[in-house]
Amino acid sequence: MIRKISFATVLFFLTGTATFSQIPVYLDENKPVEQRIDDALSRMTLDEKIAVIHAQSKFSSPGVKRLGFPDFWTDDGPHGVRPDVLWDEWVQAGQTNDSCVAFPALTCLAATWNPEMARRYGESLGEEALYRGKSMILGPGVNINRTPLAGRNFEYMGEDPLLASRMVVPYIQGLQSKGVAACVKHYALNNDEEYRHQVNVIVSDRALHEIYLPAFKAAVTEGKVWGVMGAYNLYKNQHNSHNEILLNRILKQDWGFDGIVVSDWGGCHDTDEAVKNGLDLEMGSWTDGMVMGATNGYDRYYMALPYKRLIQQGKYSTSELDEKVRRLLRTFYRTTMRGDRQVGFLCSESHYKAALDIATEGIVLLKNDAVKDPSKGRNVKSTLLPIDLTGMKRVLIVGENAIKMMTVGGGSSSLKAQKEILPLDGFKALAESLSPGTVVDYARGYVGDTIQSFDGVTVGRSLYESRSADELRNEAVSKARQADCVIVFGGLNKSDFQDCEGHDRKEMGLPYGQDELVAALVEANPRLVFVNISGNAVSMPWIDKVPAVVQGWFIGSESGEALAAVLTGQVNPSGKLPFTWYSRLEDCGAHALGTYPGVWRAGHDIIDEEYREDIYVGYRWSDSHKESKPLFAFGHGLSYTSFQLGKAVSDRQTMKADDKITFTVSVTNTGGKAGSEVVQLYISDLKSSLPRPVKELKGFRKVYLEPGQTKEISITLGRDALSYYDDSIQDWVAEPGQFEALIGTSSDKILSKVKFILE
Ligand code: BGC
Repeated sequence: MIRKISFATVLFFLTGTATFSQIPVYLDENKPVEQRIDDALSRMTLDEKIAVIHAQSKFSSPGVKRLGFPDFWTDDGPHGVRPDVLWDEWVQAGQTNDSCVAFPALTCLAATWNPEMARRYGESLGEEALYRGKSMILGPGVNINRTPLAGRNFEYMGEDPLLASRMVVPYIQGLQSKGVAACVKHYALNNDEEYRHQVNVIVSDRALHEIYLPAFKAAVTEGKVWGVMGAYNLYKNQHNSHNEILLNRILKQDWGFDGIVVSDWGGCHDTDEAVKNGLDLEMGSWTDGMVMGATNGYDRYYMALPYKRLIQQGKYSTSELDEKVRRLLRTFYRTTMRGDRQVGFLCSESHYKAALDIATEGIVLLKNDAVKDPSKGRNVKSTLLPIDLTGMKRVLIVGENAIKMMTVGGGSSSLKAQKEILPLDGFKALAESLSPGTVVDYARGYVGDTIQSFDGVTVGRSLYESRSADELRNEAVSKARQADCVIVFGGLNKSDFQDCEGHDRKEMGLPYGQDELVAALVEANPRLVFVNISGNAVSMPWIDKVPAVVQGWFIGSESGEALAAVLTGQVNPSGKLPFTWYSRLEDCGAHALGTYPGVWRAGHDIIDEEYREDIYVGYRWSDSHKESKPLFAFGHGLSYTSFQLGKAVSDRQTMKADDKITFTVSVTNTGGKAGSEVVQLYISDLKSSLPRPVKELKGFRKVYLEPGQTKEISITLGRDALSYYDDSIQDWVAEPGQFEALIGTSSDKILSKVKFILE
């Protein structure tokens, strides 16, 4: 519903006499926004200006009530709208109208490789946020997956700057099209969680610009994002919430960012730096020795009374303050002060549908080898997936993750979902409708974490378990012997050290004895599918014995339904990995070089983390270290049908500096099921002055095909796709010479190559 009454009209009704010419400029929707900002600014007192640039509660800052600017409400983000918390405490307020749709975690969104899904994600989330009265959603996150241990990778969009850029832009555009600001986070270099307040990142300018900044840059220059959150960590010894280089120089000067820089909660540490280095809104500080608990002492924030006093004492003029307030006012006009602001809606059918579609498109079929099928004859082999239930008497589901709600936990992205279909329930419901005679049995198999609440939100199902690990394993193994097939829902969860904010994982292996369990189960019944629930890669020492593996992410409200649909073939999987799935931790550059988590600086509370692998992150590392062959490559993902690519061609053999070059390739569905394939285009610079990765993703296109259908797809690149960042001149360089476009369906499945020359 559109609120059609403008502020001007309200004023008219209130005063009864006002005419449109008497409307103050700042309320006049016919006046340019910048003029309205000037007018509002000129009417504000020093106290009002100081008030709008820092928090008044855990998630809000005050507007300017006297002038009609309402409170500014932020909320996490990024997977749904977080439940309201008490004014000055983290615990949820216990409202009855703040349950939400939990959308799939951003790793799953990235795994769809489908920007249209990102747009739908943003729009649906925006509608939920509107209904909940939020002006800004604290997300999306686009920090690069540099190590599979990083606790918050599940909130981010993978390891590749181009993929993350292409996915973050429509998310932001969708969200902001609803009049809700996005706040892209955590800017920048917040690539792991351990010691996140103390890490000082040391990275080359080249890696900064080629790997860690592009998605933020795209968010600003293409997505036109209205908010950016400064990260907790430091860069060049300065906290990122008031970092001169990152905020003033790169974000605001080079990229022309005109929105607000919001500190991460408690990320501001110094008035002088905050005033000078581009911070606009200070949130969550714990000044004067206060802690992260109940009271935050908002007046004592760095940008509150201490700042006001320094202005009064003449240390600062109000020019920095006015600039910050100007940005805040601009954000008000983009959000709550919009005349056409809608009301939004919560938990609607269309939001659930979006959550389901994103989930099913993001699930990745990692492995699907043929295995003996006794029901079809002694030596007949076929793939286990999609599971054909009709011939099956008994399917055994194993694993805590089949019954654990994953929308609760993990840190600030934790939600109060109106519903979350658990994998066991989703599978049972679908099995009953597809094959009523099939028994779906369950065995827990292992106990992970039985904690059942986060900030006062409790999970619906008790996870209490009194049996020992041996008893649980034995039960699962003996039931596996009686089953036609076994599906294990394992992986990580959102408990501390298992894909959770605040800490990283301690190892790449699966926790809670799952490796031993899987090995015992597959010994008892080789017809086993492992569904991994996580936002990160895990090592799989049993991989050669297990025929089918699915990456199920944290996929929110529709988890059970989405996973069941893919496992049984109601939906043909089309997700592709947004990161490299290393076999071992040492196969990842950051760990191979021993640069993680860094080195404590003697006598300081700072840990220096040097990104010595430089630009060689993810597949850029694996491609040039053949001994580090990944278990599953970046961009990998199977389907229940097969695809064939024709020979790729380009529209020109040589390109001049300002030319574009277009590559075209045909894709045919050669199998028996409709499905989607992602065509991926990587560029290889055959000879360059600086060392370059073997290849870099520069374009992709997802294409849906009926069986037998062929489509031609084209990808156009400009000179920017050929460039590298040259530290010595602090600029991008597209060096003339020979290049090769490598076109395939994953980073390790290149099917066609086209050489061309940049003149
Ligand atoms: C997190 C942010 C989050 C904020 C508010 C911080 O601890 O790092 O991502 O938006 O809290 O909950």
